[in-house]
Amino acid sequence: MIDFIAEKRLFHLYNENISYYFYITEKGILQHLYFGKRLDDIDIESLTDLGEDWSRTYFSSETKKEEMYRDFYYYDHSMSELPSHGAMDVKLSPIVIDIDGRQDCDFRFRSYRIFSGKKKLRDLPSFRLEESDCQTLEILLKDIASETYVLLSYTVMEKEAAIFRNLEILNKNAGIIDVTRAFTLTLEFPRKDLELTHFPGDWCLERQMRKEKLTEGSKRIRSRLGRSSHEHNPCVFLSDIGADENHGDVYGFALVYTGNFSFDISVSKWGSARVNAGIDDEDFCFRLNPGESFICPEAVMVYSEKGFNSSSQTFHDLIRDHLIPRHGTDTKEAILLNSWEGCYMDFDTEKMIAFIRHAKTIGAEMFVLDDGWFGRRDDDSSSLGDWRVNTEKVDLRRIIDTCHEEGLKFGLWIEPEMVNPDSDLFRTRPDWIVGRDGIDLALSRHQLVLDTTNPEVVAYLTQSISDILNTYEIDYVKWDHNRNILNPYSRYLGDKRQGEFFHRLILGVYRLFENLTSAFPEVMFEGCASGGGRFDLGMLYYTPQIWCSDETDPVQRLFIQYGTSYVYPCITMGAHVSKNPITCYRTKAEIALFGTYGFEFDPRKIGEEDIGEIRKVNDIFHRYHREVIGEGNLYRICNPFESNYMAQICVSKNQERAILLFVNILKENNSYRFIKAVGLNRAFLYRNHRDKKIYSGAYLMDVGVNLSFWLDEFSSFLIVFERVESR
Ligand code: GLA
Repeated sequence: MIDFIAEKRLFHLYNENISYYFYITEKGILQHLYFGKRLDDIDIESLTDLGEDWSRTYFSSETKKEEMYRDFYYYDHSMSELPSHGAMDVKLSPIVIDIDGRQDCDFRFRSYRIFSGKKKLRDLPSFRLEESDCQTLEILLKDIASETYVLLSYTVMEKEAAIFRNLEILNKNAGIIDVTRAFTLTLEFPRKDLELTHFPGDWCLERQMRKEKLTEGSKRIRSRLGRSSHEHNPCVFLSDIGADENHGDVYGFALVYTGNFSFDISVSKWGSARVNAGIDDEDFCFRLNPGESFICPEAVMVYSEKGFNSSSQTFHDLIRDHLIPRHGTDTKEAILLNSWEGCYMDFDTEKMIAFIRHAKTIGAEMFVLDDGWFGRRDDDSSSLGDWRVNTEKVDLRRIIDTCHEEGLKFGLWIEPEMVNPDSDLFRTRPDWIVGRDGIDLALSRHQLVLDTTNPEVVAYLTQSISDILNTYEIDYVKWDHNRNILNPYSRYLGDKRQGEFFHRLILGVYRLFENLTSAFPEVMFEGCASGGGRFDLGMLYYTPQIWCSDETDPVQRLFIQYGTSYVYPCITMGAHVSKNPITCYRTKAEIALFGTYGFEFDPRKIGEEDIGEIRKVNDIFHRYHREVIGEGNLYRICNPFESNYMAQICVSKNQERAILLFVNILKENNSYRFIKAVGLNRAFLYRNHRDKKIYSGAYLMDVGVNLSFWLDEFSSFLIVFERVESR
């Protein structure tokens, strides 16, 4: 999987799908050569030679005269694995370090090693790969003018079309150094005819899809909100112009990180494109004492020669098989009823018991008590931080016992990282909040943020949430986070280290997740952040699913789930049928089925007919969800951002079963409308459960499913295809 061809000083990372090549120049620079489809021969000279009219000379410090690079290295025009800063290369550099006011750095090759497996990152989430799954190449580089080293690592798996990249900065100088930029990922393309796809959004409008052509200059996709955020997502794609779901070269990039991040995509005047990605560098300054090191969040690069569907499937397989935690699987597969949209905080024990008694009629298998059960909380103005049951409002024991009587599992909502000024916690520990003394602090939803850079805060939260989990039988926890981080300042860190604030805040959050998920391995944790404000690979390492959005209007949701699916598999997208009146319950349920599936309404207020519709979808859930939607391949067919339809199909890995979802948005008159399936086996015969007829895979993919009739707005069709042996 990883070869070093000594005579060419060439590294080749490969598997059956991809190749990644770079070599060490005579001066020790790692010059990038190629990332793409598996390629067995490479011509370094032809790839790097730009011709005589591009200057390759430099003034030598040794000979004190003009010399020419002996290999084809053209200082700032060549593609590099770890570009220098403040030296010859003036494009955005991945690493900036301040050493006594000096900021230039230029890392040169020292040594390498190749080993089986991938290291677990200190204090950070990362993909979990077995020793037998992969090989890692570690390269040690040293700054030419200081004792600062970089350990750059690449991991390649046996099959997946992905490269994992990481870097660690080591201070072996006699004094301190300040790391002011530490981007994990740098990848260069000897071309600029590429399109950028990214996923901007807002609350209730997460991960909308945008595609734009690269042009000269730079584009930053970033979060500076202290969490990965609703506004942007830590992933981007670069693709051939015109690449579609099934054709064209596509490169996907994502960070395993929940804090402030940046993707910088720049096109130089030389016509090359460079992607840099990592922790956002604005106001970032991480101080390293002698002997200390800084580890960046992991980055993953995915390649597909067959369009976006295939690159998404690579991400999906990696996330399902190697990132999300395995525990709590049967809880994950239980259909849940969440109390939030059914009653918000307006409940008491009797009302919740009534919900639970009715839960079974709609087929729910777990009841989740959302916000409002602790402290003195009847609205969002108080009690965050006081993780004690409000016994005057609810008898939690009785609620849980009733769940068990009814054969339901039980789940509970928490929001550990926050505190209301009106809380006992704030009254006793006002010094634990984020924000400097003596200035006005931004409130959002009446709440302040706890300073998780402080280990004492993390210990307190570990203890108070553990007390609840130890006292009650809780199968599932919904872990919320309802505001951005403003007024960044930590009393704990002190004035000299505020540049570390955002990163250390997230390290504290990861520590808290680590403490609780390891102490309660049987509990399934779901992530949430005012809807989908923290939908990222860092969170998925701890929480196998994340509430996708507070927007439960199913039509709006279509767009959100569609955008989310570019990186994240359906099984990670928390999706519920709500009381939103815009469509019927069948359509709402069919859309939620392409996520985790569950309910969020008052089960007492739903009519017989709607219960019947829901039960039909429940039946499909039980029969097919795990194999087809949970573990199968997703293919996007019609893009709602570009047409009046959304269509997608999930196909089981053995291609024996598939579920197609089609939704039209605005009303359409009669017209020809054939929706071509993707991903089926051409030679198999499938029964279409809608019209009960049998078709070959080839027919369904080449001719399509006939939907040539009048379509009311928001009509949906969910069609199950199941393999049959003969007609
Ligand atoms: C956030 C979540 C909701 C709900 C409320 C409770 O907005 O996204 O699902 O849990 O908090 O306050």
